[in-house]
Amino acid sequence: MSTKSLALTLTRPKTLELRSVWQDETLRSGQLLVQVEYSSVQPQDGDMFNCSGRFTELELPHVLGVEGVGVVLKSRCETFEEGARIAFILKKFFSDESHGCWQRRLILDEHRAMILRVPAVVGLNQVAACTTSTAAALAFLKYFPPTSRIIVTAACGAVGLATMQLGALRGHQMIGLVRGPERAAWIAKELVRCGSITVVDTESPGWIRLACPLTGKGELVAPSPDTDAGAGADGLIDGVGGEVLTLAMEELLRVRAIVVRYSAVLEEDAARVDAAQQKHRLLVKEGSVEDFMASLDAIQQVEAAFALIADARYRPKAWHVASVKEVVECMKDQPIWTRHATQVKPGRIGRIIWKFE
Ligand SMILES: NC(=O)c1ccc[n+]([C@@H]2O[C@H](COP(=O)([O-])OP(=O)(O)OC[C@H]3O[C@@H](n4cnc5c(N)ncnc54)[C@H](OP(=O)(O)O)[C@@H]3O)[C@@H](O)[C@H]2O)c1
Repeated sequence: MSTKSLALTLTRPKTLELRSVWQDETLRSGQLLVQVEYSSVQPQDGDMFNCSGRFTELELPHVLGVEGVGVVLKSRCETFEEGARIAFILKKFFSDESHGCWQRRLILDEHRAMILRVPAVVGLNQVAACTTSTAAALAFLKYFPPTSRIIVTAACGAVGLATMQLGALRGHQMIGLVRGPERAAWIAKELVRCGSITVVDTESPGWIRLACPLTGKGELVAPSPDTDAGAGADGLIDGVGGEVLTLAMEELLRVRAIVVRYSAVLEEDAARVDAAQQKHRLLVKEGSVEDFMASLDAIQQVEAAFALIADARYRPKAWHVASVKEVVECMKDQPIWTRHATQVKPGRIGRIIWKFE
């Protein structure tokens, strides 16, 4: 028997409609029926909305969304009982065999999604702001030995914020690069409880000179060509590419530092990036949430991070909570003076999430 649900559906490029959908909710072994309470707007949702980038051939109508949080309504899965509060991330960000998560009632299983328990004292809205970004941060931090000195670009983006906080909570020295003095001030004030966190505004003139002492580059230790020792940061986690990445690789890293790169779309001066890599013998890794989700202890690691939210040591940031109707405005190109929160509005810190009313 089919049951009616609602799905925020991309019907044409740049057109989202809240549509009724009918689905057979008879569960197979291992499946859960979930009432989705919140989801988030990810950069790739923006590309899907515009049918741009890798989504020019997207078959429409299509339901967007790769993650969400909600409550289990029915269960044929041993791990999650009815009433359990869960977060989930689709295991395939692209080419998932079905529609996405922007549906009120969703059938999931552990083959299709990483499903995580939300601690009783943590709000679903808090976890909605950090589900994928927590997994991403853990995926990228895994390359670093204890007490590393790590530079993070786009430190006020959703992934950047999670990486800064979870890195500091693990005992690393985190150095964030952000655009704009307000963001630098926000990080310095709000994330101080996590541990060692410093920040540099890459819009200030000569920012690289300000960053040098924070990364150890100002120390009078000549980098040795034969050892790992030497002045400069132990690593860099980058999701933006461009001049910030290039300069950081050239000026701020020690010999044999680790560079984790995770953005799909990066514009850069490839020759300079290659030259910096060769010169400092940098170890470049590709960061991938999808690979992380395949690791045996991924669920345990993300749930441990969610537990840190309970005592306010890890503080996910929802920049804006949109209604279903407003999501479309958040995704459209808007003039700079728009009253709507958009993905590209200057000064954004953290994730746009949205709530199913
Ligand atoms: N590989 C993976 O498994 C994986 C997983 C998650 C995300 N990602 C990718 O990682 C990227 C970031 O994801 P997110 O969720 O953190 O996105 P997000 O919340 O939109 O954050 C992106 C941040 O990058 C900054 N930024 C953009 N262009 C920049 C530039 N040229 N120079 C300096 N800063 C710049 C933005 O600042 P402004 O507001 O100033 O523009 C924003 O703070 C996306 O491309 C996403 O697709 C990859």
